[in-house]
Amino acid sequence: MLLSLIDLPFKLDKDNFNIFIIISFILSTLSSLLWFYNSKSNPPKPLPSKLAQNNKRKPGHWIPEDYKFPKPQPYPNWNIYDSDPIAYRPFKHKYNVTMGIRNMNPEEWIEIDNKWLEFHELKKQRLQTKGKDLYGTLPIAYDASLELLDELKNYLPERYPSMFKYNSTTGVLSNLITGEDWGTFDLKTKEIDPMFIITNLLQDDIAIMIELEDGQYYLKAGAIVLPGFWRLTDKLNMPLSEIHTSGDVPKYNTHLKKSMEKFFTRLKPETSVLRNNYFIQTDKHLDWSSSIGKESEQGVGWYTAPVATDINQIYYRSERQSLRKLPKTGAVVFTIRTYFIPIIEIVDEPYVPLRLLNGLTSWSNDVREYKGFNKFKDVLLPYLEGKAKEQEVLGYTRENEKDNFPL
Ligand code: HEM
Repeated sequence: MLLSLIDLPFKLDKDNFNIFIIISFILSTLSSLLWFYNSKSNPPKPLPSKLAQNNKRKPGHWIPEDYKFPKPQPYPNWNIYDSDPIAYRPFKHKYNVTMGIRNMNPEEWIEIDNKWLEFHELKKQRLQTKGKDLYGTLPIAYDASLELLDELKNYLPERYPSMFKYNSTTGVLSNLITGEDWGTFDLKTKEIDPMFIITNLLQDDIAIMIELEDGQYYLKAGAIVLPGFWRLTDKLNMPLSEIHTSGDVPKYNTHLKKSMEKFFTRLKPETSVLRNNYFIQTDKHLDWSSSIGKESEQGVGWYTAPVATDINQIYYRSERQSLRKLPKTGAVVFTIRTYFIPIIEIVDEPYVPLRLLNGLTSWSNDVREYKGFNKFKDVLLPYLEGKAKEQEVLGYTRENEKDNFPL
């Protein structure tokens, strides 16, 4: 049909003009489709970072880099049953709101310990009951989610060889402890969200941040399964600043916003960082802090929580967060690994009661409000004072404390 139309003798009368317009339209549509198809099926070849020059990129236009994350060594003397969680105790005598980041050795990216099975069981139950409220990948982040899955497929079997094995012929990543096989690295059908697989591999929760043309990073994919105090559905699609201001993070606009945004823009695949924080929780639930209200309800927070009356209700909750930029997509991956311990257990550790007591009482009013100070102070502070006095007799005083407590 097209050819016979083109063969007609050319005379620019009204009919021919219309035909000419139609053919031009069809050809230009076809060529756009071809261009689109090519750009999707042949993504640009990654370049060395010097050539990619992402430091001069237009916001939202990352040039894929060919950087490869270093292969980690196996975790020394590790096994899933006996390796205890690392005892992060990041509280200082004086609390300050700062970004508080430090460089991360890339081989220490993901931590797995003898709580993995417990975390996994809880994650499985929650994924079954709450499903896609807990994880998801928006279309703009799909390549980044796949890139993250690919990185984990490279990392986990090297770091934890007694737990993970990757078969490059079949494309299956096997969990040798549970017998689970994750064989869907070709996820073209999109039946399984990469985030579902990722959360089943790790103790961590995960967020993927994508830079848009306004230069801000937006939460576009994640698996937030054991968050304690917030929900993925509360924050999905928000930029970094709104994620924090919507939760009234103290001093965000004055002390954090500018440096965090600059940090996200400038972060490179070859420099990854860590930060640790801590909270007090007044119930024993790792997944959702029931004392602040129901997970299914809006308008919950410390202001709706009852005052704690028993020291056995009080838990220490601390997150180890890592941040790294993925070389191909330029997405920022944020991992959140939670350590959760009854307070009555950690107070037996040398220097902990006094340092925690001083840290908590140094919180400014806005931090107190944000972290629920009034809901636990009456039961926790006298208890810590008592324990600090017991330790003083044993010589665990501030003067004797070294400054190298585990972050
Ligand atoms: C350099 C990076 C970051 C810094 C310095 C930072 C800092 C903070 C701080 C100070 C808080 C208050 C609680 C605490 O003491 O930790 C907070 C809360 C929070 N952050 Fe971040 N953050 C960073 C990255 C991110 C990213 C990438 C996400 C993406 C999901 C995120 C999500 C949250 C959420 C959901 C909260 C709780 C907010 C609420 O209470 O509603 N943060 N952050």
